[in-house]
Amino acid sequence: MRLTLSVIKADIGSIGGHTKPSTRMIATVEGAVAKAICNGLLIDGFVCHTGDDIAIIMTHTRGEGSTEVHQLAWNAFLAATSVAKLSGLYGAGQDLLADAPSGNIRGAGPGVAELSFDHSLSGARPAESFMVFAADKCGPGAYNLPLYLAFADPMYCAGLMLPPMIKGFRFHVIDMDNTAGDSLIELDAPADSYHIAALLRDNERFGIDRIVSRTHGEVVVAVSAQRLHAIAGKYTGKDDPVAIVRNQGIFPAPEEIISPFAKAHFVGGDARGSHVMPLMPVPLNTPVTGIYCLPIVSCVGFSIDREGRFAESYTDFFDNPAWDEVRRRAQRKAIEMRSQGWSGAAMLPYSELEYGGFRDTVSGLLKRFRLRDDRKPEAAE
Ligand code: 13P
Ligand code: 13P
Ligand code: MG
Ligand code: MG
Ligand code: MG
Ligand code: MG
Repeated sequence: MRLTLSVIKADIGSIGGHTKPSTRMIATVEGAVAKAICNGLLIDGFVCHTGDDIAIIMTHTRGEGSTEVHQLAWNAFLAATSVAKLSGLYGAGQDLLADAPSGNIRGAGPGVAELSFDHSLSGARPAESFMVFAADKCGPGAYNLPLYLAFADPMYCAGLMLPPMIKGFRFHVIDMDNTAGDSLIELDAPADSYHIAALLRDNERFGIDRIVSRTHGEVVVAVSAQRLHAIAGKYTGKDDPVAIVRNQGIFPAPEEIISPFAKAHFVGGDARGSHVMPLMPVPLNTPVTGIYCLPIVSCVGFSIDREGRFAESYTDFFDNPAWDEVRRRAQRKAIEMRSQGWSGAAMLPYSELEYGGFRDTVSGLLKRFRLRDDRKPEAAE
């Protein structure tokens, strides 16, 4: 069976500010997903949230970009938006940027990550397991460093030295600034790993779209690497990306994939999408509270049975005391960075300042600048 994994997520409203969706909103999306499983559109589905973003994780055989699957997600988000509006929640419908997109909803606001594979539970994949990362208060480039380290650096993933992975992985890198459409380059690690780093170092412009095994030709990673401001033409909240990562066997093991997140590396995001702050790994369904508006990331793992259904439960990778140490490190880094307030590296550069208002403030001032008249009095005549 050709199985597709689709993860579609959106911020359609949240309680008490941009913290988390309401229980009724989640129940509304769950109801729509349950109906779609019942009527055979989906094989299985799971609904969760990270901060104020609701993610739908689905298996089906309709392929990537399927109109029916995308419309199901869109309509579920629309229904939950109505619930959010009725309850007076903040940012109701925030990520639904198009009126009524027909077909595929990529580019209409919700984040979309999808990948497909032959699912036979034999050959190179006698078992199928995957993880879903969901981040809030940051951009799609937040995954650049951890995914690079997991798929191109044996210091993080010693498994890269094993025969099934030693030929490395192909990175599909997207230029997220190109508003004409998806503009991609394919580069192979390890041969091109410095070229890959040269692009991925710029988290705001370049992102990983997908990663493919060079030995098996199998897609292992898909990221929702689209930027909302490129779609809306103005700040409409942070992108808050999701990623699917298949694991084990011919791919890195879960621990090799999550270990780079122990860095709590600095990313663009946080309050008003305008600061540079560490990415904190958190358990699933964590609200955004705390001293700042720290970028957070969750990671859940699933197994898939022969029919394409999820196993009875899931694994919450960051819900472990080991990550408390990392969370403390993230908080320490955050306090250090924020002690610098608005100055220099603590905030994103002018070109990236997400909150339209900051730019309006500066452009108003720019109009008032005057060239200094330092010519000598006689020359001035
Ligand atoms: P187990 O023996 O627990 O399956 O561990 C296998 C492994 O290789 C961990 O990456
Ligand atoms: P969201 O995209 O999560 O709504 O974040 C918006 C924001 O600007 C945080 O201050
Ligand atoms: Mg929000
Ligand atoms: Mg969000
Ligand atoms: Mg957002
Ligand atoms: Mg085992």
